Amino acid sequence: MAYTFFHLIFFIFLIPLCSLAQNNGRVPLGSILTANEASNPWLSPSGDFAFGFQQLEDKDLFLLSIWYHNIPDKTVVWYVNSSDSVPRGSTVKLDAQIGLVLRDPQGFQLWSTNAISNQLDHGFMNDTGNFVLKGRDNSSLWESFSFPADTILPLQELETGSVLNSRHSETNFSQGRFSLRFLDNGDLVLTARTLPNTTYDDVVYYDSQTSKPTNTSNSGYRLVFNRNGIISIVTSNNQTEQIGSPTLFPPVSEDYFRATLASDGILASYYHPRNSTGNQNWTVLWSKPDDICDTAAAATGSGACGYNSICNLVNGRPVCECPDGYTLLDPNDKYGSCMPNYTQSCGEVEQGTAGELYDFVVINGADWPRSDYQVMTPSTEVGCREACLHDCFCAAAIFRNNTCYKKKLPLSNGWNSGVLNPVAFLKYRKSDAPPGIEGSSSRPKDRETLIVVESVLLGSSFFLNILLIVAACSGFYLIYKKNIVKSHPNGETNLRYFTYKELVEATNGFKEELGRGSFGIVYKGELQISSKSSAIAVKKLDRVAQDTEKEFRAEVNTIGQTNHKNLVRLLGFCDEGQNRLLVYEYMRNGTLSSFLFTTPKPSWKLRTQIAMGIARGLVYLHEECSIQIIHCDIKPQNILLDDYYNARISDFGMAKLLVMNQSRTLTNIRGTKGYVAPEWFRNTQVSAKVDVYSFGVLLLEIICCRRSVEDIESVEEGYAILTDWVWDCFQERRLDTLVENDSEALNDKTMLERFVKVGIWCVQEDSSIRPKMRKVSQMLEGIVEVMVPPCPSPFAS
Ligand SMILES: *[C@@H]1O[C@H](CO)[C@@H](O)[C@H](O)[C@H]1NC(C)=O
Ligand SMILES: *[C@@H]1O[C@H](CO)[C@@H](O)[C@H](O)[C@H]1NC(C)=O
Ligand SMILES: *[C@@H]1O[C@H](CO)[C@@H](O)[C@H](O)[C@H]1NC(C)=O
Ligand SMILES: *[C@@H]1O[C@H](CO)[C@@H](O)[C@H](O)[C@H]1NC(C)=O
Ligand SMILES: *[C@@H]1O[C@H](CO)[C@@H](O)[C@H](O)[C@H]1NC(C)=O
Ligand SMILES: *[C@@H]1O[C@H](CO)[C@@H](O)[C@H](O)[C@H]1NC(C)=O
Ligand SMILES: *[C@@H]1O[C@H](CO)[C@@H](O)[C@H](O)[C@H]1NC(C)=O
Ligand SMILES: *[C@@H]1O[C@H](CO)[C@@H](O)[C@H](O)[C@H]1NC(C)=O
Ligand SMILES: *[C@@H]1O[C@H](CO)[C@@H](O)[C@H](O)[C@H]1NC(C)=O
Ligand SMILES: *[C@@H]1O[C@H](CO)[C@@H](O)[C@H](O)[C@H]1NC(C)=O
Ligand SMILES: *[C@@H]1O[C@H](CO)[C@@H](O)[C@H](O)[C@H]1NC(C)=O
Repeated sequence: MAYTFFHLIFFIFLIPLCSLAQNNGRVPLGSILTANEASNPWLSPSGDFAFGFQQLEDKDLFLLSIWYHNIPDKTVVWYVNSSDSVPRGSTVKLDAQIGLVLRDPQGFQLWSTNAISNQLDHGFMNDTGNFVLKGRDNSSLWESFSFPADTILPLQELETGSVLNSRHSETNFSQGRFSLRFLDNGDLVLTARTLPNTTYDDVVYYDSQTSKPTNTSNSGYRLVFNRNGIISIVTSNNQTEQIGSPTLFPPVSEDYFRATLASDGILASYYHPRNSTGNQNWTVLWSKPDDICDTAAAATGSGACGYNSICNLVNGRPVCECPDGYTLLDPNDKYGSCMPNYTQSCGEVEQGTAGELYDFVVINGADWPRSDYQVMTPSTEVGCREACLHDCFCAAAIFRNNTCYKKKLPLSNGWNSGVLNPVAFLKYRKSDAPPGIEGSSSRPKDRETLIVVESVLLGSSFFLNILLIVAACSGFYLIYKKNIVKSHPNGETNLRYFTYKELVEATNGFKEELGRGSFGIVYKGELQISSKSSAIAVKKLDRVAQDTEKEFRAEVNTIGQTNHKNLVRLLGFCDEGQNRLLVYEYMRNGTLSSFLFTTPKPSWKLRTQIAMGIARGLVYLHEECSIQIIHCDIKPQNILLDDYYNARISDFGMAKLLVMNQSRTLTNIRGTKGYVAPEWFRNTQVSAKVDVYSFGVLLLEIICCRRSVEDIESVEEGYAILTDWVWDCFQERRLDTLVENDSEALNDKTMLERFVKVGIWCVQEDSSIRPKMRKVSQMLEGIVEVMVPPCPSPFAS
């Protein structure tokens, strides 16, 4: 009993005394350190280095580590790579069987040096900063130098295959993004990875290019950090390749040195005066890479900073910055990713005009040189901005070297490039509540304006070949005209001005006629656009109302500001006296009219896609472009097909170009028989719903591949007028009659029925019953349910 008691006393007093007293670096077997403030680390003979628990910022967490003990910063040079911090009360023991063992306060083993056998004699904290487990034969069984964390020290040597991992941040020692790997081939590379478990990104920030010739033997290759702070790679024939040359005169060799791969990805060699007066600090001797922000070769990964961040090089180190409108995902990780202050969504764009919803943060000089999803060249700064504004996928655009690069999130490898003076446009949403959500009616007034057409039906027959209509659309012009200046202070567009002579040359003297519309003749032409020959369509206007050049240009600008994949794009115009011409991109596949009414019928799938495309184009014209445009003449002749058979609406905005003065009003013509909404003929309100009606007729034509009005004597009663015929078939549940011999459509009954129902909804005589184009588009796409439509003309006999 007394014996045991004696031992207890002995252990309580002697062991702490031992740890205090020991400064020969020897650590006997069975020694234990506990993670708390009172813990005395195991010191090296000189006291320069200590092994033990270092208290972290969070006072209840400790790090098992080796640090410089004689300087105020107690700079950590080694730690256990697999367990960043441990709670108060954790222990580390030098165990005879397994060497160093780290346990949490409950005694659960967190880490060990493992497999030391029972040869272990003692531990030793060397003055070099190396903690060594010595065997009975004085051999080294384990040393911390062989398992570096993020730092190497003078006299430390690494074999090929060794890795330094950066820590997560200055004070968080879990594994960070960067790794310095001494590859088996003798190359030293600095790479990054996104997550600890993932493979390395293919971005190499630094490469020593010291890989050995293929046939030489592996032995002898090692990385050496010398007493003067220089890293060298020693090759098998004893040649040395120095990594990083100090720009300063090398400091005195008594100084402390270390080379650390910091959490910002910079590998640097530092020195620190040995006799610290308290004010001195670590000074950088050299660092690699030279500019970590420049990751020109990066294909994946975020770059030195996180996603959506901008990297600035300050004194050789990256300083990451979230652009305006973006904030750090993790506020404690300044090198982390930034998130935008809005959620990008294509659905949302459709709730209002892009211009109302979004604006841009403009950053001169910033560039995210990777991950473009679209490149437009040539382009202008204004054109680039507009293109991004109206593209719901576009989160940012970079304008550089006359080229527009559209980007989606997340942006990567952001930096201030200074090369080619890039301008970055970052989209943000102006307010949280997008205007114009159905029902909330916060849409500005000018979008919903209806006007009373002061006309009465002047013709006597419904089928007047030419409908005499008071320029209802011109009325829109008068109302919207005021808004032009308001909504477009600059009126800037990407339009090119052509001289008449240029267009004469481009069209070879107006030789090849493409078609005749109500405004004039369209000619085919060729144009050199950025050293490439492109086909164009030149429309020669024969009746233009605007008296002054200014008005004409204002209107042309309005058209030029539109940008949608389902609209024919206006490239430019000519305005020389009486010669007023519009230049459009050429649509290789002609009009929908010539495509649709052929045998065999074109594919049902393609037809449905075309219909949906037209609907989207109209949604844009009605609700999304900066000034509402009512087409007034939707018909198959005005829908063109591009190389990929995308529907492209043409001739929009023309109503405005045709405004006549009072006396000439009656000669102004718009609308085409068979497609014109009934309200044209009544003294009633006319709105964008006229386009919905025309679209409905067009949709039914697309479904049936027949014209809205057939002149032929028909076997079937009521066949002549398409809308009547469709209604009859629909009522009698004979949809198959509508698509006779069209097996593709017959096999797609659900879609067929949906399309027919939408078509009938659109051709309702009562314009208030007709859905808006947005709803039409959603119904076609199956996003919203389609109710059973009522009879389109309840007032008819
Ligand atoms: C941590 O060190 C051990 C050896 O102690 C090594 O096997 C392991 O791969 C290292 N882990 C990482 C993530 O570097
Ligand atoms: C400490 O390390 C140095 C360099 O590796 C070595 O020369 C020296 O013998 C070591 N000291 C002891 C006591 O092991
Ligand atoms: C063990 O090696 C160290 C240096 O490596 C030396 O100083 C020491 O005397 C050796 N001890 C024995 C018992 O050989
Ligand atoms: C260190 O960072 C990692 C990764 O972000 C996190 O999981 C961990 O909780 C952090 N540790 C401390 C002590 O903050
Ligand atoms: C990382 O890998 C380890 C071992 O393969 C696994 O246990 C761990 O769940 C992985 N972590 C993640 C985040 O995938
Ligand atoms: C390298 O080895 C291959 C066979 O392993 C041999 O054919 C070739 O000549 C060697 N090249 C040199 C430069 O020694
Ligand atoms: C390289 O140097 C070491 C010692 O400095 C020497 O033992 C070895 O023979 C040398 N090897 C060659 C190939 O010169
Ligand atoms: C550091 O201080 C010690 C005594 O405190 C002195 O002997 C030594 O010369 C000093 N070294 C330097 C580099 O100042
Ligand atoms: C040394 O620099 C580090 C990081 O810049 C800083 O946290 C520390 O306070 C400095 N120490 C002294 C003694 O100035
Ligand atoms: C988002 O950021 C932009 C740019 O700084 C700012 O104008 C806008 O008000 C922000 N939106 C929100 C909802 O904070
Ligand atoms: C800038 O654009 C021109 C023509 O578009 C191209 O030839 C040149 O290589 C580009 N310059 C750079 C640095 O990309």
